[in-house]
Amino acid sequence: THELLWQSRFSEPFDREALLFSSSVHVDRKLYKEDIEGSIAHVTMLSEEAIIPVEEARLIIEGLEEIEEEISSGALEPQWEDEDIHTVIENRLKEKIGPIAGKIHSGRSRNDQVATDTRLYLRKAINDLTGSLDSIKEVLLEKAELHSKDIIFGYTHLQRAQPIAAGHYYLAWFNMFHRDQQRLTDLFGRVNISPLGAAAFAGSTLPLNPRRSADLLGFPAIFDNSIDAVSDRDSIIEFISACSIIMMHLSRFAEDIILWSSYEFGYLEISDAFSTGSSIMPQKKNADLAELVRGKTGRVYGDLMAILTVMKGLPLSYNRDMQEDKPPLFDASEATVSSLKIFTKMLRNTRLKTDRLKELTRKDLSLATEIAEYLVKKGLPFRDAHRVTGKIVTLSISLSIPLPELPLEKLREISELIGSDIYDSLTPEASISAKKTSGSASFESVQQQIETAKTKLRGH
Ligand code: ARG
Repeated sequence: THELLWQSRFSEPFDREALLFSSSVHVDRKLYKEDIEGSIAHVTMLSEEAIIPVEEARLIIEGLEEIEEEISSGALEPQWEDEDIHTVIENRLKEKIGPIAGKIHSGRSRNDQVATDTRLYLRKAINDLTGSLDSIKEVLLEKAELHSKDIIFGYTHLQRAQPIAAGHYYLAWFNMFHRDQQRLTDLFGRVNISPLGAAAFAGSTLPLNPRRSADLLGFPAIFDNSIDAVSDRDSIIEFISACSIIMMHLSRFAEDIILWSSYEFGYLEISDAFSTGSSIMPQKKNADLAELVRGKTGRVYGDLMAILTVMKGLPLSYNRDMQEDKPPLFDASEATVSSLKIFTKMLRNTRLKTDRLKELTRKDLSLATEIAEYLVKKGLPFRDAHRVTGKIVTLSISLSIPLPELPLEKLREISELIGSDIYDSLTPEASISAKKTSGSASFESVQQQIETAKTKLRGH
């Protein structure tokens, strides 16, 4: 019963190796639910428009519902010889209800069918990702609240730069993932348009009602142009691009976690349940999950390049090349959602070593900006303050005395403007508290940011 849908004009059967090469069943079988949902909507519309008899539509729909059950339960295993999932389903329907099954394809092509299936898949994939982004934002907000008064180093160029409220760090990620969610929400509007009724690419002479099938599938809008409806894959490109940006964020975050959990940094502990060991070196505790997320980022970027390249030279309208859209789509979608989920779980199970960080920040050169700004408050132009502070830093290094412990006489030898009140500002707490600008790394700003983040938690 492996009948191809298009063989009537040929006198020879399709070469088996050619069929194996062109079959997409192993990939698009993932769309069987979407395909059946789309077919049921189409057939319902056909019967309402009196294009096919109601009784036949009922038979077709019952058959389709059974087939969905058969595939879900494993009773029906889609075979590659059927070319694609659309044919698998139609051939099975024919087995069940006979030639009436053929009426399912009135006013429809596999071109608008596959475009519809893809949009149904994309809607679900976007919702999945949006939900996963809600979870990581929740964890980040929790961490920000837990650590709103703790102190960590902020880095630029991977060099210690200034001490900051730890909550500030987590809220930076919160905002990035929030924008990722906004990107998906925005894209959802462009995905949520029904191509069904465009037929092969030019519409149909049958009195179809594309608005009705769109309604049945929950699409608020339908295509304006039937060529556009079947021949663009920009919504897949936008989706994988949104996935790539999410992965880029996760990968950078993973990098911090890998570094911070190393012995050399020692800022962060990942719980044992989310760490791996070595088969030979018994002492090892590795951040493999973060590394895998970082690695999968490469795959998702590859998926984006794949689909962009598939589309770049295609003449309008449909071309079979476009069948190559689904492997990157499924791969990017699955890699991104699984990365987000496991990363969120791992993140929840990390512990910031706040006591150690407190100790380290107290003795660190990263308080130097404080000295420069102290001198600015005493009237020195910032450029001069920077020069003076540079000398103090050099002194601190050459004497091996931490900045806050340098004796006052030594400091005054470098600048007369320095008084004993300088020591008040030479603690990480004072440094952080003294930040005045909105959205800064100060404790007060973190409190405000937490309030804002609460409103952004589900407000994408
Ligand atoms: N399997 C094809 C795809 O995924 C859909 C079938 C359209 N085939 C065709 N020869 N017009 O794009």
